[in-house]
Amino acid sequence: MKVAIIGPGSLGKALAKCLGLAGHEIRLSFSRDEGKLRAIAGTLRVGFGAPDEVARWADVIALATPWPALELAMDALGDLSGKIVWDNTNAVVPDLSTMLLGTTTSVGEEVQRRARGALVVKCIPTFAELLDRDDPRLNGDPVTSYVAGNDADAKAAVCRLLADLPTMPVDVGDLTASRLIEPMMLLLVQLAYRRGMGPTISFNLIRQDGRVHD
Ligand SMILES: NC(=O)c1ccc[n+]([C@@H]2O[C@H](COP(=O)([O-])OP(=O)(O)OC[C@H]3O[C@@H](n4cnc5c(N)ncnc54)[C@H](OP(=O)(O)O)[C@@H]3O)[C@@H](O)[C@H]2O)c1
Repeated sequence: MKVAIIGPGSLGKALAKCLGLAGHEIRLSFSRDEGKLRAIAGTLRVGFGAPDEVARWADVIALATPWPALELAMDALGDLSGKIVWDNTNAVVPDLSTMLLGTTTSVGEEVQRRARGALVVKCIPTFAELLDRDDPRLNGDPVTSYVAGNDADAKAAVCRLLADLPTMPVDVGDLTASRLIEPMMLLLVQLAYRRGMGPTISFNLIRQDGRVHD
């Protein structure tokens, strides 16, 4: 697939590395420093470009910016009607103590509100530090990635990318389920960085029958 990654930071670079290794075509975008963006793209051997250009080119647009920059990024992406937008972001405060919105809405739903015609899919896959390892699985198992969205085909496309990271995607329902995914992932971040467990942890779904899909 052609994947535009918006935000060439910790997560954006890790997604570019893993999806590139899996054979996807990657273009990075959205930096305050064009030279830095060019250098990162060169190191990762992926493409780069202006947000609206990479958005037009891509099959899937992966958002990987901090919350305060998300509105700016979405403005720069232009018209996203009909585009699959994979929202990886979480509106956490810098000390990771809480979120700036939640329970009655979510970042996923805010992204949909700002890009009305887009096919928005929410999934915060795992830690960039885990994806950066040679093998991002834990004890041989892929981490579970929880996926929400209103369009079945868009969700299926993002699930294929998630499987290629590799993670084990689990469909948790429509986009309003982002309200559950986002705080769950903040809890994981708190365990990793405030409780000292580090980024090699995951909330993996385990079922007695061994299946994770219905
Ligand atoms: N890190 C993780 O493990 C992880 C995992 C899952 C989800 N997430 C989510 O992914 C998002 C990005 O996290 P991250 O850790 O990758 O952040 P990060 O390392 O700070 O990267 C942010 C990226 O956004 C770019 N950017 C462009 N304009 C910006 C602006 N006005 N202000 C700030 N950044 C701007 C930065 O590029 P320049 O600095 O070159 O401008 C940078 O490449 C967050 O919403 C986070 O919750 C992160």
